Amino acid sequence: MSQRIALVTGGSRGLGKNAVLKLAAAGVDIIFTYRSQQDAARDVVAEIEKTGAKAVALQLNVSEIASFTEFAQQVKVQLKQEWGRDSVDCLVNNAGIGLYAPFAETSEAMFDELMNIHFKGPFFLTQQLLPLIADGGRILNVSTGLARFALPGYAAYASMKGAMEVLTRYQAKELGARGISVNSIAPGAIETDFGGGHLRDNEELNRYVASQTALGRTGLPDDIGEAIVALLSDNLHWMTAQRIEVSGGMFL
Ligand SMILES: NC(=O)c1ccc[n+]([C@@H]2O[C@H](COP(=O)([O-])OP(=O)(O)OC[C@H]3O[C@@H](n4cnc5c(N)ncnc54)[C@H](OP(=O)(O)O)[C@@H]3O)[C@@H](O)[C@H]2O)c1
Repeated sequence: MSQRIALVTGGSRGLGKNAVLKLAAAGVDIIFTYRSQQDAARDVVAEIEKTGAKAVALQLNVSEIASFTEFAQQVKVQLKQEWGRDSVDCLVNNAGIGLYAPFAETSEAMFDELMNIHFKGPFFLTQQLLPLIADGGRILNVSTGLARFALPGYAAYASMKGAMEVLTRYQAKELGARGISVNSIAPGAIETDFGGGHLRDNEELNRYVASQTALGRTGLPDDIGEAIVALLSDNLHWMTAQRIEVSGGMFL
């Protein structure tokens, strides 16, 4: 079997970083993207290489749809140069931001930013990358627990993720003919830089979330990185069009 390669957006920090390190440790080579933090991306490449896996970091802003043709070209060149291949096996649409805004106070600019990053971007990026995803490959879209339960302040953000969950089923239906399975992972609240790191840094919020979680604590990046490795493993090749919540049982 040929070396597996995963392309992960937003691999420079947080859940994406954790996932690429865990995938690499499981023997998967990595292409990942960063938006602005080139130094952080360089450090992640070095950490991945320590596991013996290959890694390439590329700059990408997922809200700049006009840049996707050029980005796909860069992926193609890297695949040829580093692996002598013309496709990746897995695509993980992970890059994103947290933007807190109550429904009544959400501006059009906030809505558009969230839509571009969390829905329109992954929609057209995946479309652009289709020729570079191997037949029999995998797509994993990162959603959120907030698409199932409602917490004030996340109307626009969670709506975009909800749209991604619907898109996941359509992609699964339409790409099934190529043997590509498409699923979404919905993390609960996880301690990262997300949303200004408020879950990690605000003790009161952290305690509240833990009290509402069946397994009794907030989520950590490892919880999601490990789940992403498991969901992309060969053992789950027959699973498609599913939303898998990985939240420790938040707001049951
Ligand atoms: N943390 C949570 O509680 C939680 C829960 C459920 C779902 N999620 C979802 O999980 C995903 C990752 O979140 P995280 O917690 O890991 O966040 P994070 O720690 O803030 O990391 C965000 C990552 O996305 C990249 N990024 C941000 N905006 C981007 C853009 N416009 N274009 C391209 N890349 C961009 C960042 O790149 P730079 O480093 O270069 O800025 C970074 O690599 C997001 O889709 C988020 O919605 C998070």
